[in-house]
Amino acid sequence: MSTRTLIRGGLVITAADETHADVLIEDGRIAAIAAHGSTVAQGWTADRTLDATGKYVVPGGVDAHTHMELPFGGTFASDTFETGTRAAAWGGTTTIVDFAVQSQGQALRAGLDTWYAKADGRCAIDYGFHMILSDVNESSLKEMDLLVAEGITSFKLFMAYPGVFYSDDGQILRAMQRSAANGGLIMMHAENGIAIDVLVEQALARGETDPRYHGEVRKALLEAEATHRAIQLARVAGAPLYVVHVSAEEALAELAGARDKGLPVFGETCPQYLFLSTDNLAEPDFEGAKYVCSTPLRPKEHQAALWRGLRTNDLQVVSTDHCPFCFTGQKELGRGDFSKIPNGLPGVENRMDLLHQAVLDGHISRRRWIEIACATPARMFGLYPQKGTIAPGTDADVVIYDPHAEQIISAETHHMNVDYSAYEGRRVTGRVETVLSRGEPVIHDRQFTGRAGHGCYVPRATCQYLG
Ligand code: URP
Ligand code: ZN
Ligand code: ZN
Ligand code: ZN
Repeated sequence: MSTRTLIRGGLVITAADETHADVLIEDGRIAAIAAHGSTVAQGWTADRTLDATGKYVVPGGVDAHTHMELPFGGTFASDTFETGTRAAAWGGTTTIVDFAVQSQGQALRAGLDTWYAKADGRCAIDYGFHMILSDVNESSLKEMDLLVAEGITSFKLFMAYPGVFYSDDGQILRAMQRSAANGGLIMMHAENGIAIDVLVEQALARGETDPRYHGEVRKALLEAEATHRAIQLARVAGAPLYVVHVSAEEALAELAGARDKGLPVFGETCPQYLFLSTDNLAEPDFEGAKYVCSTPLRPKEHQAALWRGLRTNDLQVVSTDHCPFCFTGQKELGRGDFSKIPNGLPGVENRMDLLHQAVLDGHISRRRWIEIACATPARMFGLYPQKGTIAPGTDADVVIYDPHAEQIISAETHHMNVDYSAYEGRRVTGRVETVLSRGEPVIHDRQFTGRAGHGCYVPRATCQYLG
């Protein structure tokens, strides 16, 4: 049976426009948009009418970097696909692209099938996958072509974590050459992990074991060096490049320089690099462990450069790199040795709100908010216009957002399966009120009305951002 939903009276914001308009939804898709009060819109009838007067009507967020249940450092990220996608919905995100992992010695197929099984029937919102390559060899290179054909069109490589996810320059070049031929997009974790491991060993030998040393050994220059090297390798291979979780001003300068030359290189940053700093890593009593992630948090001075990069489009996307580990029992694995703290921060629920706060603080415009959080991640990873915008024919993934509601971010009230918030006590203005996923309310007036299994796997086209 066909269901019609009507959203009346809101300010519809996309990356391109802001208009007072009514939105008609039919069978899970946007059927039509017409000026609020117009004869056309007044003639519409629906089974369900949502009043968005005084609110924003925005596309559901697209978080292109999450790690539900990621195995890391002898433990697993604490959000499952069920808890993590529910929390994402609470925060106005309606699509995630998570990372399936190839373990060393394993085929890509085996890793991917494991991730399909983890997510199947559990997600509250739609999801796709990137593939982490940890073992680039003749057969995994061939498999990349098959994955691209199947809708897994992006591959993450690591210049960090020797012995775990690390690829050497030869492997990276080969994977880039392959992606240049098959249309895949290489996503790079750009940090010089070999040099970092030397500095880790030296720091521990000096008795420097606290979380703040995680930030000191993972030097900005080693992020910049790896970013530079990744850009040159991509150039040699003739492949586009997307650098994930950019945190250092010096790394951003490498991206900006390459883009000034006209190279197809792109960058993502994350809320933690925009809102948190090494001050958090230095919190006493091992509290700094809550902020251990890689690339690491940087001194506050880097934040202005990242905001500038987001305004100038040297950075195109803000994703969360959501990879939560509980303080109790997980982050604590690294007491007495910062290198044993599992790397990653929770944030999938907070991204849209923090970026809305950035609009109020004057860092970005409202349309840029939607561009970096919805439209560009969708284009970058082949989901556009199905995801990332509000236009006739697209999936009705829509958020009714109250730009005036005040909230205080806290682990007491969040929905992520993690025992702390990286943004504890932070006051933000703006809050999700209602979230539709393919026309179905998954959050309705601040109540969860979705269900595990509503979310569908979405195969992706190749990158649509190159043109
Ligand atoms: O610290 C992080 N970012 N953990 C997740 C894995 C990665 O490198 O993205
Ligand atoms: Zn109006
Ligand atoms: Zn990474
Ligand atoms: Zn990550």
